[in-house]
Amino acid sequence: MNLLRKKPVKLLQEESRAEHEHSLSKALSGANLINLGIGAIIGAGIFVLTGQAAAQYAGPGIALSFVVSGIGCLFAGLCYAEFAAMIPVAGSAYTYSYATLGEFFAWIIGWDLILEYLFTAPTVAVGWSGHFVAFVKEFGIELPRSLTTAPFDVVNGHLVATGALVNLPAVLILLFASALLVIGIKESARFNNLMVYTKISVLVAVIAFGIWYLLKNPAVALKNWTPFIPENTGTEGQFGWSGILRGAGVIFFAYIGFDAVSTSAQEAKNPQRDMPRGILGSLAICSVIFITLSLVLTGMAHYTTLNNPAPVVNALLAAGAPAILRYVVEIAALAGLSSVILVMLMGQPRIFFSMAHDGLLPAAFAKVHRRFRTPHITTIFTGILAAAIGGVLPLSLLGELVSIGTLFAFVVVCVSIIVLRKTQPDTPRPFRTPWVPVIPALGALLCLMQMRFLPPETWVRLVIWFAVGIVIYFSYGIRHSKLNHRRRHPEKGEDYRLAPDTPGAQD
Ligand code: ALA
Repeated sequence: MNLLRKKPVKLLQEESRAEHEHSLSKALSGANLINLGIGAIIGAGIFVLTGQAAAQYAGPGIALSFVVSGIGCLFAGLCYAEFAAMIPVAGSAYTYSYATLGEFFAWIIGWDLILEYLFTAPTVAVGWSGHFVAFVKEFGIELPRSLTTAPFDVVNGHLVATGALVNLPAVLILLFASALLVIGIKESARFNNLMVYTKISVLVAVIAFGIWYLLKNPAVALKNWTPFIPENTGTEGQFGWSGILRGAGVIFFAYIGFDAVSTSAQEAKNPQRDMPRGILGSLAICSVIFITLSLVLTGMAHYTTLNNPAPVVNALLAAGAPAILRYVVEIAALAGLSSVILVMLMGQPRIFFSMAHDGLLPAAFAKVHRRFRTPHITTIFTGILAAAIGGVLPLSLLGELVSIGTLFAFVVVCVSIIVLRKTQPDTPRPFRTPWVPVIPALGALLCLMQMRFLPPETWVRLVIWFAVGIVIYFSYGIRHSKLNHRRRHPEKGEDYRLAPDTPGAQD
């Protein structure tokens, strides 16, 4: 039994090439992959958090927060691109650390990724529900509060009952996305494409309107942008440079998702070429949109007015945009949040799938539907968990936990690139991160810095989450790990055959 036993890259590559009725379907084109990235990235972060972070922490300097966070994501994205092209399997960071740091770390990262994918979906679904309720209200349809709000909330650190029954719209959107994901990766990608085109065209229109308005009213822009970095209030993180960094930690949530592209690597037609394109292409497109949109928003409306649930709409109205635009932006936000939910619910089952494939979770989780060629059991399991969380739990508990968990995964992926370059310098790499070890080291540092600016309670919750994960590993995973049951071939050394009594050995 060896906690640091590593899974050979060659074995992983063989697994990724498997093509039969029990394997995932290789259906995704390069454009699909870029759209999956954009689908996962543009959501609650840009539509809601940007305004709030500008108002509370960074002022117009929020654009600089986007630059800082974007550079950290770019460096981590380059590392993801190298791994995803070299080891195109569904497990993403979990599998990369299995190959580099060993099984125990892989489990920790797999457990950590639950924070990202499983928890982002309900968090965003609750946002979707709020937008949906507000949207239908515009047309005179008032949905009852008891069916659109969680039954619990956190007030002053205590869980209190709200009198509501369930957040039904959140539950329904989560179940709808899960059902689509069971039916097929191609069908899911098609729906995602539609959502992505909707949200991108609306955001580009908002930016174009904003630039036109600011060019026509330079005095307004100048007034709203001065000072660009408001003076620090005396408290760390409230404006000034520390506010920019605090803002970066908060809006990092907006960038989350480009890494989800890597969980679909096993379903890409040409992962060696298209994984780097999907990851880096979606990140590049979204970074440009985020930085320009945040500049335009703080130019059209003073940052102090942006602390509300619909900052994009309110900034447009402040600039005298026609009222109809409000509906258009609302539709784009609903489309945006739907695709985030979809892609996050796509990522999580594929991580569970890979963990089960390695024996760290029950073998049933590694099943692929014969006709749909999707990991249907993990997809349904994830959907039910996400719906239970989104329908019932107060999400104020989760938001920052998602960010800290994702940042942690990025740090590990950056470090793993350095490790694998040292331990396996000759393995063919279709894509190479430039300037190793400088870029991965800077990527890890930037992510650590953003973690440092998240509230201390978030760190405590992260440690508790890991403690639970470690208990589960030692009570289940370590005993069922397929790698721990590998037999040594008497003459040829190690081989990959499993002892027949190993759970899942007959797969
Ligand atoms: N980046 C995604 C969002 O902002 C998670 O909703």
